[in-house]
Parts: sequence; C-alpha cells; structure tokens
Amino acid sequence: MIQFRSLFLARGARLLIDNLSLQIHPGWRVGVIGANGTGKSSLFALLRGELHQEQGELDLPPAWTIAHVAQETPALASSALDYILDGDTELRRVQRDLAAAEAAHDGHLIGELHTRLQEIEGYAATARASTLLHGLGFSDADFSRPVSDFSGGWRMRLNLAQALMCRSDLLLLDEPTNHLDLDAVVWLEKWLAAYRGTLLLISHDRDFLDACVTHIAFLEAQKLTLYTGNYDDFEDQHAAQLAQQQALFEKQQREVAHLQKYIDRFRAKATKARQAQSRIKALARMERITAAHVDTPFDFSFPEPDRAPDPMVTLKNLKLGYGDKTILDRVKLELRPGARLGLLGPNGAGKSTLIRLLAGELAAQGGTALFGKGVVLGYFAQHQLEQLRPDESPLQHLIRQEPLTREQELRDYLGGFDFRGPMADAKVAPFSGGEKSRLALALLIRHKPNLLLLDEPTNHLDLDMRHALTLALSEYDGSMVLVSHDRALLRTVCDDFLLVADGVAEPFDGDIDDYLVWLDARRNREAAANMDVQAADDKATRIANREAEKADRQAKLQRRRPLLKELEQLEKKLAAWQEEKKQLDERIADPALYTRGDSSEVQSLLKRQGELAASIDSGEERWLDIQTEIEGIGEL
Ligand SMILES: Nc1ncnc2c1ncn2[C@@H]1O[C@H](COP(=O)(O)OP(=O)(O)OP(=O)(O)O)[C@@H](O)[C@H]1O
Ligand SMILES: [Mg+2]
Repeated sequence: MIQFRSLFLARGARLLIDNLSLQIHPGWRVGVIGANGTGKSSLFALLRGELHQEQGELDLPPAWTIAHVAQETPALASSALDYILDGDTELRRVQRDLAAAEAAHDGHLIGELHTRLQEIEGYAATARASTLLHGLGFSDADFSRPVSDFSGGWRMRLNLAQALMCRSDLLLLDEPTNHLDLDAVVWLEKWLAAYRGTLLLISHDRDFLDACVTHIAFLEAQKLTLYTGNYDDFEDQHAAQLAQQQALFEKQQREVAHLQKYIDRFRAKATKARQAQSRIKALARMERITAAHVDTPFDFSFPEPDRAPDPMVTLKNLKLGYGDKTILDRVKLELRPGARLGLLGPNGAGKSTLIRLLAGELAAQGGTALFGKGVVLGYFAQHQLEQLRPDESPLQHLIRQEPLTREQELRDYLGGFDFRGPMADAKVAPFSGGEKSRLALALLIRHKPNLLLLDEPTNHLDLDMRHALTLALSEYDGSMVLVSHDRALLRTVCDDFLLVADGVAEPFDGDIDDYLVWLDARRNREAAANMDVQAADDKATRIANREAEKADRQAKLQRRRPLLKELEQLEKKLAAWQEEKKQLDERIADPALYTRGDSSEVQSLLKRQGELAASIDSGEERWLDIQTEIEGIGEL
C-alpha cells in the first residue's frame, strides 16, 4: 500500500501539494489528473525518490519494484529487442549469473538459476518483448536495429516498451499516449487491462482514462483528492461540486444553453450519415462535460474566416513519399469549404505525410495538387513548436505577427489562452510542452485560417484546454483536416473520415467506433498471418531438418561403405592367414621334419611362419582401426 501522511511537496519556492493524507491500495488503477504545471509529474518524481517532501511521510513497500518510462534514451548500439529486454532487470541479472556459473562449471548454481529463470518466465521473455514491440507499432525489421537509429518519438515508444517489460508492482505512466497514434493507444489500453500491479497514470485523454482506471486523483489548488470510479464518474461529481458555487452554477447554465442552441442548429442540417449522427451524440455529451469545466481559465474561439474558394484543394492521382520510396499512391481528394475531415489509419501509413503535402511542406512525387485562390492555411504539428523563439515572450510573438494591433487587445487575446500577467511577458524557453502547444495554437488561430491542418494538436494539453479547443473547433466555420489519437476530439469535430492504409487513402464509411473495430480486425488478421508465417516457418524447419538428417545419413553411409568392405576383405584374409599359420605351426612342431635333415625346408617354413605372424599382427591392428573409424562416424 502507498500511504501519504501529512505530506507537503514543493519545487523551489512553489508549493505543489499541501498537507496530503491518502492511501492507495495494491491493485488500484489511479488516473492522476490536473491542469498543466500543477505538479503531477513532480508527484511521480517523489514516488521514484528523485524529489523529497518538505514535510510529512510517504510509505512505499520497500520490496516493490517500481517501473517508469525513462525520459531520455541513450544513443545505444544495442538492438531494440535487447533494449526492451533490459527492462526486466531480474531476467538480466539471472542471465549474467548463469553465464558466470557456466564459465565456472558450477553445476549446482546452474541448476538453481535455471529454476529461477523458469519461475520468472525467462524463457518466454523474448516472446513477451516481441509482443510489446509489435503492439507499439514496431515491425519485425526494427527488432534488430540499434536504438540509436530511431527518431525521438520512436525512442519514447522504446522506453515505454521497456517500462512495460519490467515485472513491476507499481507502474508509473506519465502521459504515455503523447507519442502514440490511435492504434497503439488502443493496444496499450488492452495491455493495461491485463496488468496486475498498481497503476498510477497521468493522462489528459478522457477515453483512455475511462478504459484504464478505477480511481481518479485530481490535483487542484495544491490539494490531491481521490474519487472512486472512472473519468466520466469523476466529471459528474466535479460538475455537481462546482454547481454548489452560485457564480459557477450560473455560468454552467449559460454555457450549456449556448451549446444546446448550437447543437440544435447543427442537428437540423446534419445528414443521416453514421458519422454525422455520431457527432450529434458527441456534441450532446459536450453539454454535460461543459458543466465540469466552467472553472476553466480558457476562453477563445476561431474568428470568422474570410471567404474561401470552392473547392479549396483538389488532389488528383497524387503520389507521395520520401526519396525513392512511395508511401501513398493515387490519392484523390476534394476539400470544399466547411469540410471537417479526420484522417484515420494505422501507424506509419502516411497520415502526417498527407498533411505535410497539404501544408506545402512536402512536394508530390506525381499527380496534381491544386490550391484555390484565397486559401489561408493554419498548420499545426509538434515539430513546429521548435519554431517558437525561446528568448521572446508570448506577447512578442503576437506583436511580430500583428505589429499594428493595439497591445491591450493582444494581451486580452493571450489571456483567453491563460497567458495572463507575467506569463504574457515571460520568455518561452522554459515553457512546458503544453504551454508551447497552447501558444502555437493561439498564434495560429489569430491568423484567421480558413483551412486548418492539425496533426496531433492535443499532445501535452490538459483536459480544460482540450475541452476549450474541442468547443472552439466544433464551432469553427472553416475547413479542417485533423490527425489525432484523441477519440473524444475526433468524434466531436469530424464530419467525414479518410482511411489512410496500405498505400491508398479512401473515404471511410463509419465512425470512430467502426474504425476501432476495423483496427481490431486488421490486428487479428496480421496476428493470424504472423501465425501462418510461423506455422509455415515451423514446417519449413521440420522439412529442412529431415532433409539435413537424410543428407547426414547418406554422408555417413558413404564413409562407412568402403570401411565395411575393407573390413570384410580383411577378415577373410585374416582367417586364411590364421588357417595357413595353424597348419604351418603343426608342421614345424612335427619332429619328422627335423629327422629328414633338410635344413633349407625348415628355413623356408620358419620364414613363412614369421611373415604370416607379421601379416596377422598388422591385419588385426588395421581391423581395430577400422572399427574405431566406423564408431566415429556414429549411428545411422
Ligand atoms: N526540475 C524542475 N525544477 C524546478 N521547477 C520545476 C521542475 N520541474 C517542474 N518544475 C515546476 O514545478 C511545477 C510543477 O511541474 P510538473 O511538471 O510537476 O507539472 P505537471 O502537473 O506534470 O504538468 P503537465 O501537465 O504540464 O505535465 C511547475 O511550476 C514547473 O514549472
Ligand atoms: Mg507532467
């Protein structure tokens, strides 16, 4: 059990947790939520012993193995598979000890270590690591690639796999979905459902939380409060608590009424299409969610865009890729004003590539891409955060974009993104990922785009900001292409989906739930294909083994045959020699031979006797040698 007793936690002068007393029981799965910068990651640092409390006590069972995701990946030459296996520290220790015991011929220790290896399922470790790598989107070819070969995002996935490999009692996951796409997120959900230890999970993804947790720990105003149930349950309870404050209750009523009106208008013109119906449901759900977020510090919306051309973008027979590798072919797409397109598709299929083409970051390999006159792009992708100027403030960024606008207006605008007071004038350099994303979005929205291209816009954003962004996008009048692993966002803002998979991009006739079913079926197909490959491999191995055995037998026969023949001849010769010698011995032993007085006859008989004895001697020696040679060739 984890127990906090009257605990105070601070970072420098800033108090993060004020007088916390709380118990977390073994087997609980706790979603840790709270706004950006409230101290969730710092709480994890405390549990890992990297940060110390100011006051109070933290009890953790000393025998517990704690797993967490490393934030850095050393540029190692070892293979991805080995790196994942390193996550099981006991396995690695037993393997090392075993190698030492074998070198020392310590039979007793070797036996003990093999038993331990069996107990910790060490023989299945590679299979377990392969499952983790496949689930997180790695291909077979990646397994042997050195860690240093992988890009930043993929190294984070390796770190995640390494943490999952650890047979832990407590698993700490800090926003694990940030570097994943939807199929990996869904896989991780299933993996976590089977995890037997205690889980603490920081996440800002409501669908993910709902699938994974039994409790919610909400960190707000230095207080960590525990709620039983999943994220949805928490939000209901939280909304009820907020409603007890008169001012917030009135705001809830106002916002929900506004949303209700918007949804009614939308419902009136929406089609019967499955996705449009799903979107109506998702928007209706927003009413309830809005009540739980009325104390949000965010208040922004998209300005009405300028008139847009129709069509905005036309792609015909487009070919896309990098270098001489083609990723998508024969892409056909027409984006009209007001289009809300979500790009779905498995990891690495080319969703970001397509967005980069639309953003003009990437040239086509073939085909035509026509952009209407008057398209104002608003492109957001994680790599663009690097384009923020570290030594400038949010306000300076905005002034650079709009030198003629009154400063107060810009400050008010930034306030809607919670860059208030000193934050508006603070340098961007030390900003967290969430704060940088928020600033990039603020700059982009201010630009009045009529075509939004959003590639994973919610990474690092807290739930309040996600909700605010979802609301703003719902009411946005321009066109939009979105890639996201946040199912709540996809459901709420997209009207149509394009499925990017297997080298093509085609309209997907269904909603997010249909897509999840599609993904599942695809995974099963792949697993079955893998099993077929495995079975075929096994069969091929068996055939190869049989062939090898046959060839081996043939080779042995070929080597034995002349030996056996020689043996047979030798035995005949030996028998003849022995027979001759026996008769000779008898004659030489006969006294009559000597009475005749013919010494030359005696001489020749004795000579022959010596010859025969020598032949028999060497013949017997050869016979023994042949026997040894035949034994050396082995059984057939
Ligand atoms: N290494 C550090 N040294 C000093 N201050 C830090 C350090 N890391 C974080 N902080 C500060 O501590 C506070 C809490 O940060 P923390 O990273 O724990 O927040 P968080 O809840 O995880 O936020 P997010 O949702 O953005 O990840 C912030 O004000 C942050 O600026
Ligand atoms: Mg954090």
